[in-house]
Amino acid sequence: MSNDLFNIKIGNLSFRNPIALAPMGGMTNSSFANEYAKDAGLVIIGGYNLDAATQEAAKAIVERGRGEFVSDEPLDLIESEIKALNEGPVKCVNVRSTTLEPLIEAARLLKNNDAILELDAHCRQKEMTGIGAGQALLHKLPELCEWIGKIKESGVILSVKVRANIVDDIGLVKSIEAAGADILHLDAMKEGAGADLKLIKEIRDSTRMFLICNNSVTDIEAAKDMFTRGADVVSVARGVVSDPALISNLVRSISLLQNDMGWYNAPKHVCRGEGDLRGLAFCCLPVKPCPVHNNIKKLGYTAQEFADIKMEFARGNMLEYGDSTCFGSLAWCCKISKPCFLRDGVLETLGVTDAEYMRLKKELADHLLNHAKNR
Ligand SMILES: Cc1cc2nc3c(=O)[nH]c(=O)nc-3n(C[C@H](O)[C@H](O)[C@H](O)COP(=O)(O)O)c2cc1C
Ligand code: SF4
Ligand code: SF4
Repeated sequence: MSNDLFNIKIGNLSFRNPIALAPMGGMTNSSFANEYAKDAGLVIIGGYNLDAATQEAAKAIVERGRGEFVSDEPLDLIESEIKALNEGPVKCVNVRSTTLEPLIEAARLLKNNDAILELDAHCRQKEMTGIGAGQALLHKLPELCEWIGKIKESGVILSVKVRANIVDDIGLVKSIEAAGADILHLDAMKEGAGADLKLIKEIRDSTRMFLICNNSVTDIEAAKDMFTRGADVVSVARGVVSDPALISNLVRSISLLQNDMGWYNAPKHVCRGEGDLRGLAFCCLPVKPCPVHNNIKKLGYTAQEFADIKMEFARGNMLEYGDSTCFGSLAWCCKISKPCFLRDGVLETLGVTDAEYMRLKKELADHLLNHAKNR
């Protein structure tokens, strides 16, 4: 399968697939990543502790028996660890700090090494939250946003790792995006309930940021539940410890899906409330009362404008055809996974593969979102 199978890019970095190793303090260093995540599209090592306060907190965590990376020279350690990582996956380093200056130094280092900086606003170990680091940053939103803006001045690609269901998630995500972050890495944890899939969809509909999601993924079905709600990348942490082949298996399955279907994170239809706004690419002509109307309203389109923009997009490409389909054009046709002999007959006559059809639907979804009036 080709290296460009997925076409996932952010800044100057290109991900060969949408599966990532998530960070686990004291565990996910270069040797762990090279052994268990050799097939991943992205490896996130760390979390490393950048300033004296987080280093002391890490030592206290280790004293009570939990793993942490402890070093008084964290930047030297990070540099040698990035250099020791296998080539192939995009590299990212998860870091904690109570002050801005070390974050800016780390950002410069990572930019020079073509790696992503990930700011940990997620760690809930009391030694970290007690000094204002990790998850405590979620409660200091103005400061977090100021840091994001300052870190971005270095030109580094910046990910912010957050835990769901702690603060107002939508407000948080919009603020992080407005502050200039490139990536939101969401631990979609819902206490006692595994991953909060509904929240992933809501977040997808409230931001255009690149979205990495995790929590409790141990097989391809769980990863697909996140992809269909809008995750660009799915990351795994604990699952890799219990199943060392997990990343390779996820990569194999999602690559097969992309090869067959052309849009690995295609949304569900919006009819039953599960599909995010990208699912409007599969919607019918808006002529009957159904959820399409609420959804197009969120993008600021009237029914007529929605009809016009879809047909305008279809003009000159294969989606324009389909006289024999329900609404006279493939622009209004369903996701390929929904069986339909009418659509499939048109695709066959045109010589268009399922993957080509879905790639056009993805472009249509991007077009609808890019031209939205109120986003
Ligand atoms: C032992 C352990 C250490 C972790 N350390 C970090 C960390 O340093 N930084 C961070 O952002 N997340 C950390 N996490 C959170 C994981 O990256 C991930 O978000 C979480 O475990 C949910 O994903 P999973 O269900 O695939 O494990 C840690 C998780 C575990 C289990
Ligand atoms: S327009 Fe069609 S696909 Fe969209 S919500 Fe209505 S019934 Fe479902
Ligand atoms: S022709 Fe088939 S795919 Fe197209 S809108 Fe009708 S049911 Fe959906």
